[in-house]
Amino acid sequence: MPELLDPRAIGTDLARRDGAAKVCGTATYAFETPVERPAFAHIVQATVPLGRITAVDTSAVDALDGVLAVLTAGNAERLAWTDDRELAVLQDDEVAFRGQPVGVVIAETSELARQAADLLRFTYDEREHDSELTVDHPGLYKPDKVNAGFPTDTAEGDVAGAMATAHATVEQTYATAMYHNNPLEPHATTALWDAEAEVPLTLWDSTQGVHPARSTVAKIFGLERERIRVVCPYVGGGFGSKGTPHANLVLAAMAARALPGRPVRLALTRQQMFFLAGYRTPTIQRMQVAADRTGRLQAIAIDVVEQTSRIKEFAEQTGVPTRMMYASPSRRTTHRVAALDVPVPSWMRAPGECPGMFGPEVALDELAEALEMDPVELRIRNEPEKDPESGKPWSSRNLVACLREGAERFGWADRPPAGHRDGDWLVGTGVASSVYPTYRQASSTATVRFEAGRYAVEIGAADLGTGAWTVLPQIAADALDVPVDDVEVRIGDTRYPRASVAGGSSGTNTWGSAIVVAAGAFRDKFGGDPADGDEVSGDVDQAERDSDHAAYAFGAQFTEVRVHADTGELRVPRLYGVFAAGRIVNPRTARSQLIGGMTMGLSMALHENSVWDPRVGQVVNHDLAEYHISVNADVADVQAHWIDEHDPWVNVMGSKGIGEIGITGTAAAVVNAVHRATGIRVRDLPVTLDKVL
Ligand code: MOS
Repeated sequence: MPELLDPRAIGTDLARRDGAAKVCGTATYAFETPVERPAFAHIVQATVPLGRITAVDTSAVDALDGVLAVLTAGNAERLAWTDDRELAVLQDDEVAFRGQPVGVVIAETSELARQAADLLRFTYDEREHDSELTVDHPGLYKPDKVNAGFPTDTAEGDVAGAMATAHATVEQTYATAMYHNNPLEPHATTALWDAEAEVPLTLWDSTQGVHPARSTVAKIFGLERERIRVVCPYVGGGFGSKGTPHANLVLAAMAARALPGRPVRLALTRQQMFFLAGYRTPTIQRMQVAADRTGRLQAIAIDVVEQTSRIKEFAEQTGVPTRMMYASPSRRTTHRVAALDVPVPSWMRAPGECPGMFGPEVALDELAEALEMDPVELRIRNEPEKDPESGKPWSSRNLVACLREGAERFGWADRPPAGHRDGDWLVGTGVASSVYPTYRQASSTATVRFEAGRYAVEIGAADLGTGAWTVLPQIAADALDVPVDDVEVRIGDTRYPRASVAGGSSGTNTWGSAIVVAAGAFRDKFGGDPADGDEVSGDVDQAERDSDHAAYAFGAQFTEVRVHADTGELRVPRLYGVFAAGRIVNPRTARSQLIGGMTMGLSMALHENSVWDPRVGQVVNHDLAEYHISVNADVADVQAHWIDEHDPWVNVMGSKGIGEIGITGTAAAVVNAVHRATGIRVRDLPVTLDKVL
């Protein structure tokens, strides 16, 4: 087995290094970057769901003092690369979805920019749009691949045969809603174009990856990457929506180029985020599960229907976790997608696994009920020895340990009987499994330098609230064999070596591995007594990479739900998760990630729902007054625990990713508890009170 780093700083409860700056308000976010005389840009959005712009009337705006520029398809610069039609803004007169950018106004103040945007008059030739996802939509097609490059469909064995002959079967359809990423900090950029400078374009942008953002902007504008600098020390959340650039970044750069020498600030309003920052597609999941008398699965199948936009394909990999989660001789997974006249879906925390662990984990609960078997025991009986999909051994798999420890901590054995009533409240308990793959990205480099008696580690990583500012120094300190106080890590700037996106829960694994390589090379070259200015770089590609094992983090979530017998009011007094996610680099930031994911899963179970109006073609509850999320009053006793797991096959830290696993399975655990409390099986999220009365 590969050797692990000797953990000294790793595993300690180091407080967030960026915490004080954030709490005191001295941490500068993209929109508040100190610049001279900033101008303000506001995006103008299409007011029809499909059609063509036939005229633009700017006369009311021309009369306003303080408007610096109005960009529309008629006068905006031609972009060098327009293949990505989400990003090819203001290039033609076509409108592909309601809310699509059709212009941008730049003015002396943000208020004026917004006022001017409202005064612009567009005339449209409107066409009939198609924006409603249905299970039998005539446009459903089979994409070549689903996201992250997975095969669209898989099949083995004989699902139909097993369904016809098995002792117990469940065949049901489950649905998850449309969800919008709503980080606290909306997407925002301060952009500066200075044609005379060596690096003419600077983008202070709220992003999950400065280097990936730079690459995309370079391609779109036909600029050398070295001519662009992207800076992002702090991010107020992203949940995937800042993982790849959206139209706002292109418009910010365009606006800056239209006003050379003048910095331009552009932020999405909260309402605009429901059109322009991506979202999770609604999914319809037809499940089939079959088991023998002892609870061993004979078949498991998921057939997914979901949507994408007509201008850009984004096929959520919802069926993927069913390929590996449990042992079964017969299995089928399929994805069918409808391309609609809707905004472009994108990454949202645990894409694939988050919706994809809803249908299966509720279906298993229904199967346990049919078998009169404990749902914890049912899952344990279907533990696969090897990855059912690849046939590879697991790098480590401790789902059973998570289920057992969770049951113990929760008091599962002593749970009240189904339909238990406590005064006016019906009480139920539920369980579901969690999973998330362990990804490592290619192409990340770190530099270690000795300066002024300390070690400086530079890498263009991003901390979107996850803890990278804090855990990367811990890894560097152990790799250099020095105290963590002797290490300063610098991230969030393309001036530092190239780093991968903070996505797919891959950050610590990827950047940490690069740092370990760089630190090892530094020690080899300079030993323990370096001189000022000594410097070495290391690449993640030089880190040992294992492809002989299937690597995933696992977890189990247990919920107690109380449903008011008269009003249907739903409360979740307890939500316990136990995870097996490799070595935990920092328990404080890890707990925060896991609890955050679980809370977002609770929010998905009870509240979140982007309500689509197919007549007008937009989300009608497009603000945080009407798009409900779990707040403090909804979150009672949420606990995250973990198994002491050190996975030597993943990386020398022994760590797996933790940013996304917490949201997977949670909604199923809540639904399963609601059923035990009320006898009502809610198969379409969210569980609102009308569904339990
Ligand atoms: Mo995450 S949705 O992979 O940024």
